[in-house]
Amino acid sequence: MRGLLPMNLTSTTGDARGAYFEQLYQDDADPWRVSQRWYEARKRALLLACLPQQRYRNAYEPGCGNGELTLELARRCDRLLAADFSAEALLLARQKLADARQEGNVSFERHSLPQDWPRTSKGAEKFDLVVISEIAYYLSAEELAQVVEHSVAGLAPGGSIALCHWRAPFTQRILSTVRVHDAFQHAPGLHCLVRHEESDFLLGVWSNDERSVAQKEGFA
Ligand SMILES: C[S@@+](CC[C@H](N)C(=O)[O-])C[C@H]1O[C@@H](n2cnc3c(N)ncnc32)[C@H](O)[C@@H]1O
Repeated sequence: MRGLLPMNLTSTTGDARGAYFEQLYQDDADPWRVSQRWYEARKRALLLACLPQQRYRNAYEPGCGNGELTLELARRCDRLLAADFSAEALLLARQKLADARQEGNVSFERHSLPQDWPRTSKGAEKFDLVVISEIAYYLSAEELAQVVEHSVAGLAPGGSIALCHWRAPFTQRILSTVRVHDAFQHAPGLHCLVRHEESDFLLGVWSNDERSVAQKEGFA
């Protein structure tokens, strides 16, 4: 389900993987039917409900695809950086947000993970929200380790990292969903705030602040 053309990405380079996704969006503006399926709408609603803060100052969504989740995140964030491998996906996402008149606080950049992860060492503001949805199983173990490292290093105090991934096997998968979520579970300095498990997908939220939502709001 998560990969549509019968291509094994395990042995491909980053460039070839980028070309694979570019072709998917050239052929079909909504390859995973994220705008049409109740499954996808419900999953987005769950992810959004699991975010511990009502509002975020500065968020990053790598692998934003055609922008369906980006649109919802933009409504919760002062600033959102949405990025993807695919130029075509970014065009679609930009158009979706423009159609909804929600593009004012969103910037779009072409990023290939992990190398293009925005580095806060260059003076950029840290992110108080990072959303990694249906992308990390396309990374190698080494690439995932770098993504975890960058996510933690660039997380503002009290910030959250949300992950959501389809569980079943598919040809283009490099890592299992359990392996991906475990990498964040075991990352030094992160505390798990939410773990939602279904037969179809895993959803998790981690933070460098272990307090619950009620504790943060001061009544627990
Ligand atoms: C299955 S789609 C998920 C889209 C969206 N995040 C969602 O949850 O519906 C995966 C997206 O990640 C992008 N992608 C995959 N690997 C990537 C990488 N290493 N760097 C940047 N983008 C990547 C693809 O181009 C594609 O748009």
